[in-house]
Amino acid sequence: MKTVKKAIIPAAGLGTRFLPATKAMPKEMLPIVDKPTIQYIVEEAIESGIEDIIIVTGKGKRAIEDHFDNNFELEDNLVKKEKYELLDKVRQSSNVDIHYIRQKEPKGLGHAVWCARKFIGDEPFAVLLGDDIVQAETPCLKQLIQQYEVTQCSVVGVQQVPDEETHRYGIVEPLVQEGRRYEVRSFVEKPEQGTAPSNLAIMGRYVFTPEIFTFLDRQEVGTGGEIQLTDAIQMLNELQQVYAYDFEGERYDVGEKFGFIKTTIEVALQDFELKNELLVYLEGLLEKIER
Ligand code: G1P
Repeated sequence: MKTVKKAIIPAAGLGTRFLPATKAMPKEMLPIVDKPTIQYIVEEAIESGIEDIIIVTGKGKRAIEDHFDNNFELEDNLVKKEKYELLDKVRQSSNVDIHYIRQKEPKGLGHAVWCARKFIGDEPFAVLLGDDIVQAETPCLKQLIQQYEVTQCSVVGVQQVPDEETHRYGIVEPLVQEGRRYEVRSFVEKPEQGTAPSNLAIMGRYVFTPEIFTFLDRQEVGTGGEIQLTDAIQMLNELQQVYAYDFEGERYDVGEKFGFIKTTIEVALQDFELKNELLVYLEGLLEKIER
């Protein structure tokens, strides 16, 4: 049995929702408290057993490479100042290799994944999207890998969303349910409001068999004039079963402003050094607004 050891993290998006912050800085480097969002994603991949990560970047994304590199001058400076706690935070772990490839044209998520095909070869692999951060006892991707190990089939992570949000996601039309796992009749990318076949939305975590590339190779343009990953999943599902798995855990949407702010507050409240001060501040703020 082939195991899932490689992951693709697409990070070529322009980050227009966060302009002007993302004019000269990749959106993946925006911090939640003190960690760039992409580091949360990389840590989830490592905790799920991934050994090689390929980040698909684009123009203006150099800071991501620098972030996952060693910074000798900084480390040396922290050693001299005996700031060992900070040193731990900036030192990069060596049990994973991070590779980079550029998506040369912004042709969509399906195209970004396709750009990494030669790196993946003939193995099952994972895809993690940077706009979704998941906190879970068992890392979200690990839950999907466990499903892959049982079924030997591709699996996409889903969660329920309210009716008014289905048009923002890839949505699955479920068939038979077995525990948290669904057989799927169809996958549809961003259905128009009121037309979604269910409330089960794809949440930026996937495990694929390499056959997905047969369909990405076709480079067919879908919703929004982009090459959509969801369309390739739909075609793959006609060749071999693709499951949806309603994963356990709290998912945070850091791809838009309000979600980003909520995530920042919740993560800060989990930090025991910040928690009390922040609570007092928030309570005071509420009183001030209510007055
Ligand atoms: C992408 C996928 C969509 C998925 C979403 C999850 O959309 O195309 O199927 O539901 O990520 O965050 P995007 O948010 O990049 O438009």
